[in-house]
Amino acid sequence: MVTKKMLLPIELVNPGMKTAEVVFNKQGNVMLWDGVALDGNTIQRLKNVGVDEIYVQLDEPQEMSGFDYSQDSPEHFKIEYEHDLNSTKQLFQAISSGRNIDVEAANTIVGSIVHKSESNRNIIDTITQVRSIDEYTYYHSVNVSLLSMIIGKWLRLDEYHIRNLTQAALLHDVGKTRIPLQILNKPGKLTESEFNEMKRHSEYGYSIVKNSAEISPEVAKAILTHHEKEDGSGYPMGITGNKINLYSKIITVADIFDAMTANRSYKSKDTPFKVFELMQHGSFGILDPIVLKVFLDNITTYYIGSKVLLNTGEQGNVVFMNKSNLSRPVVQVDDRYIDTSVSKIVRIKEFL
Ligand SMILES: [Fe+2]
Ligand SMILES: [Fe+2]
Repeated sequence: MVTKKMLLPIELVNPGMKTAEVVFNKQGNVMLWDGVALDGNTIQRLKNVGVDEIYVQLDEPQEMSGFDYSQDSPEHFKIEYEHDLNSTKQLFQAISSGRNIDVEAANTIVGSIVHKSESNRNIIDTITQVRSIDEYTYYHSVNVSLLSMIIGKWLRLDEYHIRNLTQAALLHDVGKTRIPLQILNKPGKLTESEFNEMKRHSEYGYSIVKNSAEISPEVAKAILTHHEKEDGSGYPMGITGNKINLYSKIITVADIFDAMTANRSYKSKDTPFKVFELMQHGSFGILDPIVLKVFLDNITTYYIGSKVLLNTGEQGNVVFMNKSNLSRPVVQVDDRYIDTSVSKIVRIKEFL
């Protein structure tokens, strides 16, 4: 296991995390040594004395050392994934036909997704695959739920928060069941009024879940705010980052990644490397920088070893990700190593 440190706001620090540096109080006295496992009381004590942020250890996925720690076989994972998709379809279709949300059915899917928490490799392989267009919302909901769960794990959230987060992610677009199909599945660009109607899915989603006693208010809030942006330029309320809850911040990162890697009817699929680059450089003011960094630092390592086609017609394997230029990794072709961030000519054309 490769360990690195990250500065986290105290609100994101969870029991079980370990300090990665000595923590001082405002007077400069040592409060905690490096390498201390944090529990709830200690975290509360840090908050009480006004410590805003601390360095914690974050584990890199084990694939970094070439070891695949997924427990499920890809075939078994695929069967469960198809099952989750179908259950999500039934859940959403029941809501479309006017019934109240079946929270128990939603929680069964959440349970199935949370239980895949050791299958990151299968999850990442599956979500970047082609999916059918008219069933987009179901694939998207399951994928965002799987991705959010992984990010929650990388952020070391506890099980309670992971379950809530996974539930909020599964239901984040449930309001789309109230959007007319001719708008939802329209292949071309939406008109302004169609787009305005589409944007109402956050509020529709909120109204679908808000009266359910089994759904936590934080989950309902995440559904309402999943299109808000850090700088206040999102919708429906235009609130800024400090008013957006952590579930929502995580879902937004997963949402954007899934939407960009999806094979939509009106745009061609970007390679995951291009998506990383766009997220890294194009999301300032949109995404929470800490959640984004944890996501990119961890997920990009899963692409080491992947096969790519270069614009020179050659095929190669990604052997190293350039942290400052994620769309231009180092690629090995036979016994040559090509750093596509340095080469003026060689680019990745396709992800194989
Ligand atoms: Fe949405
Ligand atoms: Fe979405």
